[in-house]
Amino acid sequence: MIDYRLCIYNSAKSVLDGLELSDVAAADAFCDYCIPCFKFAKILRKSPAAIAADAAERVKIDGMTVAALNGYLNFTIEREAFVRGAFAAELGESKPLDGKTVCIDYSSVNIAKPFHIGHLMTTVIGGALCKMFRALGANTVGINHLGDWGTQFGGLISAFRHWGDEKRLVERGLDELLELYVRFHNESEKDEKLAAEAREWSKKIESGDSYAVGLFDKFKAITLEQAKAVYRRLNIEFDSYLGESFYVDKVAGVEEKLRAKNLLQTSDGAQVVMLGDDMPPAIIRRSDGASLYVARDLAAAYYRHATYGFDKCLYVVASHQALHFKQLFKVLELLGEPWASDMVHVSYGMVSVEGMSLSTRRGNVLYLSDVLNAAVEKAQSIIEERNPTLVGKSEVAESVGVGAVVFDALYDGRLKDKNFSLADALNFDGETGPYVQYTHARCRSVLAKCDTAESADDIDYSQLTDDEAYDVVKLVADFDDAVYAAATKYEPSIVSRRLVKICQAFNRFYNADRIMCGGKAQTARLALTKRVADTLRYGLSLILLDAPERM
Ligand code: ARG
Repeated sequence: MIDYRLCIYNSAKSVLDGLELSDVAAADAFCDYCIPCFKFAKILRKSPAAIAADAAERVKIDGMTVAALNGYLNFTIEREAFVRGAFAAELGESKPLDGKTVCIDYSSVNIAKPFHIGHLMTTVIGGALCKMFRALGANTVGINHLGDWGTQFGGLISAFRHWGDEKRLVERGLDELLELYVRFHNESEKDEKLAAEAREWSKKIESGDSYAVGLFDKFKAITLEQAKAVYRRLNIEFDSYLGESFYVDKVAGVEEKLRAKNLLQTSDGAQVVMLGDDMPPAIIRRSDGASLYVARDLAAAYYRHATYGFDKCLYVVASHQALHFKQLFKVLELLGEPWASDMVHVSYGMVSVEGMSLSTRRGNVLYLSDVLNAAVEKAQSIIEERNPTLVGKSEVAESVGVGAVVFDALYDGRLKDKNFSLADALNFDGETGPYVQYTHARCRSVLAKCDTAESADDIDYSQLTDDEAYDVVKLVADFDDAVYAAATKYEPSIVSRRLVKICQAFNRFYNADRIMCGGKAQTARLALTKRVADTLRYGLSLILLDAPERM
């Protein structure tokens, strides 16, 4: 699509001295773009109204009318020209991030811990950002930074030896591990010997004892199997599953760098980096020699920088780890790494779930897969009611149910705390995933009934200049810009919200303009319907949702 803002900027900058691209603002009720002239008043010693009136005389742009109103310079694009331009551009064709590399650390599950609802946000925000960055041309590296290091695994091995059973472990998987973990926790409070035993086992894992490592690897496989089943349902894939344990022996290298810059200090036997008055020191190594979370993250940052040469390295992690990332980035800055400023903590708020009974909670945690299953079940019964003869009902229910949960998670700004409600997420008439999916399917069923234009030359764009059609065109025309904004602000909700807006505008258009009216109008309206359907399917894929053809 033509970059109208740039076009306006280029034409107006010689007339308005000091004009910046960001001064050209997007549509309001009076125009498609405007330039507020207030900031020029001081320099030019004229009123904004006079400046706008003068500029309106002098700025000339093809396909646009320029007018002055109340100190604003307004640019109205000729509708037919705009519609033609919108259709000339291919969806997803602009690749502004071509050649850039973005590492995205997300989901990052912990071994032997259930994949619970607390991991929903990191998983879907990170997954959506991966898709968006890739769509914009960037090379993306999705990293699942596994929590596979810590003394808790020693406890788990000790618990397994006391109360566990190989057969039960295979059958019950994570449920079994969770129970063992809870039991160990309770019993070790009464029995001090257990804690000592756990320490022995975790030392054995560290020293590579084959029995201990073998058991730990089993726990790891069970955890990953469960996580990957969820990832498949969410259309997510990772490029790397290197976890914390991988970085343990690389912490020494980081300490060397710190020492070379005189940044490492001993405090109560621990190795620490002082970070100034507004932050507690970063602890690199405890007095017993064990490395800490931040130390392993430092090693991981160096590894990622050396391996991928990233332009950005994102960490999609809950806001409660804000201090950790502040410390991590600060240490890299003190080390003088220029890429320290390319590290970003993509933080998000808390999720609570409403309307799922405690009986669904296993050991007081709510598994993400159980939430997805409940949503799919509900979707199934809604579909049964609305469209009992639909072919492939269970696949559609899976797409709609899972999609409802994901869409809901990605609909509000990420920093906002969320209270998830199944009923709201599955409301086909609300601002929901199912609503967008249903609008897409409705477009497809219109399109299935008749032939669309063979080539763009057959389309008379003047047929799409009425308010309802034009509103739709405007929303699909700069969809790529919405994707760009969403990716670069790390805010997938910009795309979800745009999709809902497109659906609302399309449904207004559908009610106002009869599509199957024959002639040139039908051809043009079908072309718009196709563009909407394609945009919805593309947009849904960027936020991890399927787009069923029929619903
Ligand atoms: N496993 C951690 C957790 O569940 C998240 C890890 C985030 N990534 C990182 N590089 N620190 O809290």
